[in-house]
Amino acid sequence: MTTPSQQPSETPRPGSRPAERTYAAASPDVDVKAISPVADEVTSPPTQPSVAEEFGPEIEAKAGELAARYPQSRSALLPMLHLVQSVQGYVSQEGIAFCARQLDLTEAEVSAVATFYTMYKRRPCGQHLVSVCTNTLCAVLGGDDIYKRLSEHLGEDGKPLGHEETAGEPGEPGSITLEHAECLAACDLGPVIQVNYEYFDNQTPEKAVELVDALRRGEKPQPTRGAPLTDFKSVERQLAGFFPEEEDVFRSDVDAPSQAVETLRGAQLAADRGWTAPVMPENAPLPEVEAK
Ligand code: FES
Repeated sequence: MTTPSQQPSETPRPGSRPAERTYAAASPDVDVKAISPVADEVTSPPTQPSVAEEFGPEIEAKAGELAARYPQSRSALLPMLHLVQSVQGYVSQEGIAFCARQLDLTEAEVSAVATFYTMYKRRPCGQHLVSVCTNTLCAVLGGDDIYKRLSEHLGEDGKPLGHEETAGEPGEPGSITLEHAECLAACDLGPVIQVNYEYFDNQTPEKAVELVDALRRGEKPQPTRGAPLTDFKSVERQLAGFFPEEEDVFRSDVDAPSQAVETLRGAQLAADRGWTAPVMPENAPLPEVEAK
């Protein structure tokens, strides 16, 4: 006989309760918890679309397009997980099952990939994902202070917001998921924050608080460089490889200068001084590559 807590159920929908309260798992590992929902406390708000509706014909067609882009369909798993996130705002158990079906993989194989990369979220995300770089260089330049200030500012009742926790109702306008991130590849512009992977350079705790307050008011501040700000789900659709078809819409949505003066300073200095890299000898021996 099965007890209620042993019965499988639908993955929890975005809601106000933190994931840990509704997920049960064999180990305390948060990744395992978040992709292994067990039933007893889980209910779906009536206004949410069903999973079948979310992964309906339109998404199935897009998944088919992705699979067809590769000689081996399993290579489409990474973009397909982004497609799942563009639908649900995270990778749910149903999202994992969807990818497995589309790509003829086991759910265990898909789970192994989804839980390996931090870009795949195992809990429902806010409208915006705010990533604060706390890797070494940004940390010493103030990244740790920024993260601390934001987690306190976005927390409730004196409890700071934790890593990958959401202020507000996940998916609702103005909701923000906070995370600390490893090097965001903009060390020359640290400390940096990304919002939905767009850069806000040379931040301070005060500027960061202004930024998240603007997001909570529904504004979309212009990133320091790169494309205009949208929201987490829209960016996930782009990361899955789906872009506006009209050239001018594409340009305005996703294309913008991404380099900064600081980033080009070394190249500029070399050009000013006439420095060039040594020429590669004609017959330079190349290392042997082992045949597989
Ligand atoms: S350490 Fe923050 S971007 Fe590299």
